[in-house]
Amino acid sequence: MLPVAKLFSACLTGHLIPYISAAAIGSGQSLPIAIPSGQSPGPPGSSGSVYGSPALVGPDGNPVDTADSAVLSNSDLVPGQQEDADLGLYLDLSEAQNPQPIRGTGGGTDPGPRNMIYEKSNPDLYAPPGTDAGDVDNLKWPMGLSFNRPGLKRAGFARQQNINELPAATEMAGVDMHLEPNAYRELHWHQANEWSYIFNGSVRVGAVDEAGQTSYDDLNAGDVWFFPAGKPHTIQALDKGVEFLLVFDSSSFSEENTFLASELFLRTPKSVLAKNLKTDVSSFDNIPQDQLYIFPGTPAPATLSAQNITGPAGSISTNPYTYHFSQQEPYIVDGGSVKILDPTTFPIAANFSVAYVTVQPGAMREIHWHTDSDEWNFFISGSARMTVFSAPTASRTFDLAEGDVGYVPFPDSHYIENTGDIDVVYLEVLQAPKFTDISVAQWLGLTPPQVVKDTLSLPDEVVANLPKYKNYIVPGNTNLTTTNFTGEGPVGTNYTGNGPIMI
Ligand SMILES: *[C@@H]1O[C@H](CO)[C@@H](O)[C@H](O)[C@H]1NC(C)=O
Ligand SMILES: *[C@@H]1O[C@H](CO)[C@@H](O)[C@H](O)[C@H]1NC(C)=O
Ligand SMILES: *[C@@H]1O[C@H](CO)[C@@H](O)[C@H](O)[C@H]1NC(C)=O
Ligand SMILES: *[C@@H]1O[C@H](CO)[C@@H](O)[C@H](O)[C@H]1NC(C)=O
Ligand SMILES: *[C@@H]1O[C@H](CO)[C@@H](O)[C@H](O)[C@H]1NC(C)=O
Ligand SMILES: *[C@@H]1O[C@H](CO)[C@@H](O)[C@H](O)[C@H]1NC(C)=O
Repeated sequence: MLPVAKLFSACLTGHLIPYISAAAIGSGQSLPIAIPSGQSPGPPGSSGSVYGSPALVGPDGNPVDTADSAVLSNSDLVPGQQEDADLGLYLDLSEAQNPQPIRGTGGGTDPGPRNMIYEKSNPDLYAPPGTDAGDVDNLKWPMGLSFNRPGLKRAGFARQQNINELPAATEMAGVDMHLEPNAYRELHWHQANEWSYIFNGSVRVGAVDEAGQTSYDDLNAGDVWFFPAGKPHTIQALDKGVEFLLVFDSSSFSEENTFLASELFLRTPKSVLAKNLKTDVSSFDNIPQDQLYIFPGTPAPATLSAQNITGPAGSISTNPYTYHFSQQEPYIVDGGSVKILDPTTFPIAANFSVAYVTVQPGAMREIHWHTDSDEWNFFISGSARMTVFSAPTASRTFDLAEGDVGYVPFPDSHYIENTGDIDVVYLEVLQAPKFTDISVAQWLGLTPPQVVKDTLSLPDEVVANLPKYKNYIVPGNTNLTTTNFTGEGPVGTNYTGNGPIMI
């Protein structure tokens, strides 16, 4: 058995109210206020919608962006790394500028989000010996590291992180997968629902459902697909390769346990295969003698229409399996931006509600919790910290960086504070039919001031300045020893509660 890797704009639909009178705030000046579609009005200075157009769902007929490559030319191989993978030599990655998950002829370059500190100090997890195989219980686990097994051929790799590595993650698991140019993730299906976000390159994906309907589409970095449990699908990198994140709604999902086309054929009597496909048994003389998993392929035809197989049942047009999320414009607030993708605009992903959040240096995803789901999060760039408060009296603060996975059990409160000097970009993935959260600041702002004051003994001006709307993100300056944020940004904006932005 081949070793399997383990981890780890367009249109705005929001009901925009472009300007409101700020008379109630006292200046008579107009302030732009956006109403995120399906949500409450946002803070002054916000613009856009948290949702994209429903028209971004399904194939858009556009060619892929061939300028975006998922293949690195500057890989940095250390002594022993090009030797036979089964020799399994120790790799000293500590001095490598740009270490790669490559062993012998297997693996591939790593363009996507990664935490190099962990990779360098765990070379046998990052680029495992070819003899490592199967699932072993977590015997040593550096926080934040995915574990990885490159395949035997230079076709790609995958990292997986499930409940074995992150015991708190009881509802979701994740995989980061890389395919070299034209490589395939073998035809397969599985028990869990699969949601995917593409980091680099481009890919052709397709699926067949139980009605015999088909769905084929070409996707770019920033786009999303969803394959419902049980539906067989095909994934092939286009000619610049592809790297993507997979999130599953099962804590124990393992790339070791998918149903592969090659294994189906290997595990079925050849006479039965011959009867089923109306041929002679000799037709199966050359079937693969081991699973393929990730393997090199012949280049896909450049145009999707050449592979757009459609049977008598037609295409999956009612609830397509892809969403061109890269074209969704963000909802902008002071300190960052938010893009939400949930069944409101992507109905097939019935229980996947996701926010793509950008937090500028100094800013913070505000203190909040979710009303109906745990949160699985993945850090695409930057460095951040998060305090998780769990009733009755526990809290812990975690530092997270590019390539890390975080998990917040329902309904623990948390924030994400940018602790670095570049944008923090991360995904919040919920198992819920709609992306929702409770903002602590808005909650208190919509509670009678007397109650807030009696409970928390806050100064009058702080209580009066609590927002009635949801900020999502709050700005702050980049000096992380700052302790007085009075007058910084729009959190309260001294809003009196009488103006037209009242909900
Ligand atoms: C791959 O995508 C990630 C996430 O957007 C980005 O940070 C990285 O720079 C990209 N890699 C390349 C080689 O473009
Ligand atoms: C694929 O086939 C479907 C059904 O015939 C059609 O609606 C769609 O436009 C085709 N897409 C491409 C890119 O050819
Ligand atoms: C959605 O996910 C939650 C949390 O895992 C689960 O309790 C619920 O049953 C799921 N709903 C559907 C429709 O799958
Ligand atoms: C950061 O803020 C602290 C506290 O206000 C101040 O003492 C310090 O000088 C500031 N640092 C910089 C680099 O501005
Ligand atoms: C905090 O900053 C505000 C605005 O700059 C200032 O008026 C106030 O005195 C400061 N508070 C303290 C305790 O320094
Ligand atoms: C809020 O009030 C303070 C003190 O009066 C003032 O300095 C500040 O400019 C006000 N902020 C806004 C956004 O109106």
